[in-house]
Amino acid sequence: MTPANRYLAGNFAPVRHEETLFDLEVTGRIPEFLDGRYVRNGPNPIGTVDPASYHWFLGDGMVHGVRLRDGRAEWYRNRWVRSPGAAAALGSPAPPHRSATGAPGLGANTHVIAHAGHTLALVEAGISCYRLGAELETLGGHDFGGPPPGGFSAHPKLDPATGELHAVSHHFGFPGTVRYSVLDPAGRVRHSADVEVGGNPLMHDFALTRRHVVLLDLPVTFDARKAVAATVPAPLRRPGGAVLAAVAGRVRVPDPLLWALILRDTPRTRRSRNHDLPYSWDPGRPARIGVLPRRGGSTGVRWFGIDPCFVFHTLGAYDEEDVVVLDAVQHAEVFVGDPHGPGGGRPRLCRWRLDLRTGRAAMTVLDDREQEFPRIDERRVGGRHRYGYSVAVESASGVFGGAVIRHDLRAGTSVRRSLGKHIEGGEVVFVPRGADAAEDDGVLMGFAYERDTGFSKLVILDAASLVIVAEIRLPVRVPHGNHGNWLPTTADLRAEAI
Ligand SMILES: [Fe+2]
Repeated sequence: MTPANRYLAGNFAPVRHEETLFDLEVTGRIPEFLDGRYVRNGPNPIGTVDPASYHWFLGDGMVHGVRLRDGRAEWYRNRWVRSPGAAAALGSPAPPHRSATGAPGLGANTHVIAHAGHTLALVEAGISCYRLGAELETLGGHDFGGPPPGGFSAHPKLDPATGELHAVSHHFGFPGTVRYSVLDPAGRVRHSADVEVGGNPLMHDFALTRRHVVLLDLPVTFDARKAVAATVPAPLRRPGGAVLAAVAGRVRVPDPLLWALILRDTPRTRRSRNHDLPYSWDPGRPARIGVLPRRGGSTGVRWFGIDPCFVFHTLGAYDEEDVVVLDAVQHAEVFVGDPHGPGGGRPRLCRWRLDLRTGRAAMTVLDDREQEFPRIDERRVGGRHRYGYSVAVESASGVFGGAVIRHDLRAGTSVRRSLGKHIEGGEVVFVPRGADAAEDDGVLMGFAYERDTGFSKLVILDAASLVIVAEIRLPVRVPHGNHGNWLPTTADLRAEAI
């Protein structure tokens, strides 16, 4: 009997086709200041996968976008991100990849950003990221201003004051360190440093203050046994596992060898990659938060021990004299009890105060309700944020809840707004009404799924009141996914993409 896999059912189930739909039905009124695209990324495996072993984090990337202009919803498109393997599986030509930094694995499935005139589909752990065109087509692999190796991060931070893009990247092939890099507004590398962490941790996100970079070194690490099980035929697993287990977390392995072992794009690894996530909860690894001066390296890190937990996503961080304040969604543990997804405990919004004078960390719970995908007004990155937004989740049932939570962190209050009966929501992003608008003067937007119709919609809410101001109704389903952004027309398109 086939075990249930919640990530292939309900609104996690992948869609099978790419759609192009024009002049979408709108209820309410789309604010006139919205001129651009909302684009969101997420896993959507190509072809058939085995429900017994499919892991949601390893589905091929698919981006979903809605173009808004002059109060109209001009189009909806969904497109797979075409890595060489994804393109081959779809029977379409492979886009140029030779300039990409990272391995040509699954199409980047985690985030979408605009930087240096490019629209970029992002992923982590040494997998290649891709440039997208105006209509979400894949233009080619991206090298982030420098040669391989390394891959990039799914959660870089754009400094609104300088236009620099800061990133902390982990790569299972480079155990012992993570790479902190800074790209200038033109996309050129201006700083790069390998920060020693020991072992081989999964570092999905980080935080940026005006003076510091905040690193999350937590107990999830690369698991060589899983990697071998996913990629090496059974008779060879024992020796293959021994080799990988020996090197993981100890020595660096030349990229070509690792890629050949783990990330090669063959029919076998394409199937396998849709199975096992090669990371595990590692109770033997201490949990700690690092504070690194901007533009710093290994020698400048201050480490703060914390109770074991995991953080996929930070809300924001700022300096308060000699204290670094970090707000993030904390999981008591992850990758436990669910072989197909993040698993683990109830995610809740927490604050850590990291005292640079005493070397001590103190944690408080800001909101004990289950939630994830925290976002702020991106103009506040590095500075003190007052408002934050997250989506309610129901970890017991494994679905995203149909509610948005708005936090006022100065007042210490939060408001939960239901999106309606039979609705499953997702991440919402904040879009300011204009460049000089107040921190909560704008809208939130994100996809939501209607269980009763089987269709999805793009929901736009007033950020201050959480009143729904418009819904763009789609005659298709947008599966639950990861992260997205509002990409204003003025910022995200360059000549090659138009
Ligand atoms: Fe994420």
